[in-house]
Amino acid sequence: MLQEKEKRYIINTYNRRPEQTLLLVRGRGTLVWDEAGKEYLDFVGGIAVNALGHAYRPVLEAAWEQMQKVIHTSNLYYSGPQIELAECLVKNSVGDKVFFCNSGAEANEAAIKLARKYYKTVLQSERFEIITALNSFHGRTLATVAATGQEKFHRGFEPLPAGFCYARFNDLESFRSQINERTAAIMVEPLQGEGGVHPGTADFLKGLRRLCDEKELLLIFDEVQSGMGRTGRLFAYEHAGIKPDIFTSAKALGGGFPIGAMLCAEKVAAGFAPGDHASTFGGNPVACAAALAVLQAILKDGFLDEVASKGRSFQDKLQLLAGRFLGIIVEIRGKGLITGVELSGRAGEVQRACQEKGLLLNAIGEHVLRFLPPLNVTREELDAALEILEWALEEVFGSAQGK
Ligand SMILES: Cc1ncc(COP(=O)(O)O)c(C=O)c1O
Repeated sequence: MLQEKEKRYIINTYNRRPEQTLLLVRGRGTLVWDEAGKEYLDFVGGIAVNALGHAYRPVLEAAWEQMQKVIHTSNLYYSGPQIELAECLVKNSVGDKVFFCNSGAEANEAAIKLARKYYKTVLQSERFEIITALNSFHGRTLATVAATGQEKFHRGFEPLPAGFCYARFNDLESFRSQINERTAAIMVEPLQGEGGVHPGTADFLKGLRRLCDEKELLLIFDEVQSGMGRTGRLFAYEHAGIKPDIFTSAKALGGGFPIGAMLCAEKVAAGFAPGDHASTFGGNPVACAAALAVLQAILKDGFLDEVASKGRSFQDKLQLLAGRFLGIIVEIRGKGLITGVELSGRAGEVQRACQEKGLLLNAIGEHVLRFLPPLNVTREELDAALEILEWALEEVFGSAQGK
């Protein structure tokens, strides 16, 4: 059995619930199948990675075409797909320049390094500290663990890199109170994903922009989870109508291929000189070709409006369900097609019941269910997921109240 071999050979870092010992072997669109041939609606999507579902043809074709030419050349040479992707990202965002890497943590690591270097070399200042939000998640490298405002990720890895302090999310005064003569930047997710699906309010995000302007700080947005159309706009900063100085992307960027990117304003890019930062695989031609196909699909006329509209309708229907499960469904949060349903508890059991009925979703702790369907999910699939959720809630909590 593969599962037994996994136990024998792979370091046990993933805290899988018993039902997640599932082996998924095939996928198409929103559907995936396990080794026994059982079908599931995939509302985990590789944790916000498979933005266009499984086996999306244009992504497969772009990657396959590139693979036949050259899979890897290194950043010692120019790379056509990398330059094309950078141009497309820049033309469709507030970023002027891009650095490519392979994951969200690496993109954030690059952002942190760039902020420090910009202060040192461009502004000739010794400022280096970055204020991040409590309950945030920025990755698993040492610096991004330090940036993550959750103690449970710090424990056992001390001493952590210096230069991070934390403030309360959606609380501008809390951020203001953390600023001192060493502060260089503020870094937040515009919508906290791993922390339980908490959108930043437009007032808060705009307030951070004003605060950074007033105090000459860089504003860094981690859009690793919220970006690439997930919230109904290409990047979530668009909802607040503001421009971060640096922002990061990964997860959905490659539609399943590992790729990350850090984008920044021209003046900030001047902080990095040749030799300051690099990645062997960063901007790999196959990943870039796939990412360009993803972007082109997301940028098609009407696609993002449809994401926003499907998300609103899904959340409206969840609100109706909440009316039937009073005291059990506590809150519905999210934007576009990232939705968090806060329960009074037993989220793991609901997740398990959903899976039994053919719906994969992700429980964050025991209180939040996270729904991350592909952006091209159909309305029928969204309705089918709601039906399964309703069944699962009845199964776990007994008959719906107020029926
Ligand atoms: C907002 C955010 N930043 C960074 C990361 C880390 O990304 P990766 O796992 O690709 O390193 C994640 C992963 O969940 C994330 O949600």
